[in-house]
Amino acid sequence: MERCGIVLAGGTGSRLYPVTIALSKQLLPIHDKPMIYYPLSVLMLANIREILLISTPHDIGLFERLLGDGSQFGLFISYAVQPYPRGLAEAYKIGEKFVQGRPSCLILGDNLLYGHSLSATLNKATQKKQGATIFGYHVSNPSAYGVVEFDRSMRVISIEEKPLKPKSSYAIPGIYFYDGRAPSFAHQLKPSARGELEITDLNKKYWEEGSLDVELLGRGIAWLDTGTHDLLYDASLFVKTIEQRQGLKIGCLEEIAYHKGWIGEEQLQSQIKKMGNSSYANYLRHLLETPRTFV
Ligand code: DAU
Repeated sequence: MERCGIVLAGGTGSRLYPVTIALSKQLLPIHDKPMIYYPLSVLMLANIREILLISTPHDIGLFERLLGDGSQFGLFISYAVQPYPRGLAEAYKIGEKFVQGRPSCLILGDNLLYGHSLSATLNKATQKKQGATIFGYHVSNPSAYGVVEFDRSMRVISIEEKPLKPKSSYAIPGIYFYDGRAPSFAHQLKPSARGELEITDLNKKYWEEGSLDVELLGRGIAWLDTGTHDLLYDASLFVKTIEQRQGLKIGCLEEIAYHKGWIGEEQLQSQIKKMGNSSYANYLRHLLETPRTFV
């Protein structure tokens, strides 16, 4: 059974007020494209094409306007509403019918991942049939995240959500690979002290039965947070710096789809027309002039 994807792009975005009063956080620009493009590109690199996007009743229409049915990116995108932000694991209660017992990958709509060997790491997780895979990433401020602790032989010995005194420097990025049982585990969860269905508690279900793999993402990979005004600016600057140096874009959905053979020249041409006289259109035009490498 092919793995499907869920992008969770709801929440209040209140940490970014007033910027996010009228507009969803995940639609804010990260340099030259909306934030949501980045997590979508990560799912595509993991070879996931059937995707459910979950957002607020207020914002869902904007995502539909931006992304449509996803066919321009070789994707199959459907939409669902989370009426109130009751926690990340609620994505699996909302997405139960979509998942239909298939393995899945949940990614947060505000997480940006980029770097060396990312595709290989994701594909390994995609191919695992049973259990779950999450990741560990060394950060300077682990208490802002889910934190995973290892023993000397790299066995997981604790997983905690935003601990005041973190037991390690390894944060858990917002990308999670689960087998088909994620919705039934989500139904068993109880709200935490802050009233949310915690993704950390879902991960613990897999850990307790011994089927949770934690892969470390090395320093060659950038995992960027977009939770504050400063971090948002930093993420834009990061994308701008790499893109300008290389002349290659990060998170260009048409490019990934074209190189994977999910869309052809005609579809790319029609996207170029839609992009008007933007530098993004010029970049897509350039793709048509260079040899296509299938990845
Ligand atoms: O970014 C990785 C971290 O994401 C993990 O390390 C943590 O374990 C996990 O709990 C989560 O922590 P955050 O503090 O980033 O969670 P936050 O409440 O900010 O939600 C993350 C994104 O998901 C945010 O863009 C809003 C969206 N969201 C959040 C909730 C609670 C929803 O769409 N629905 C929700 O119910």
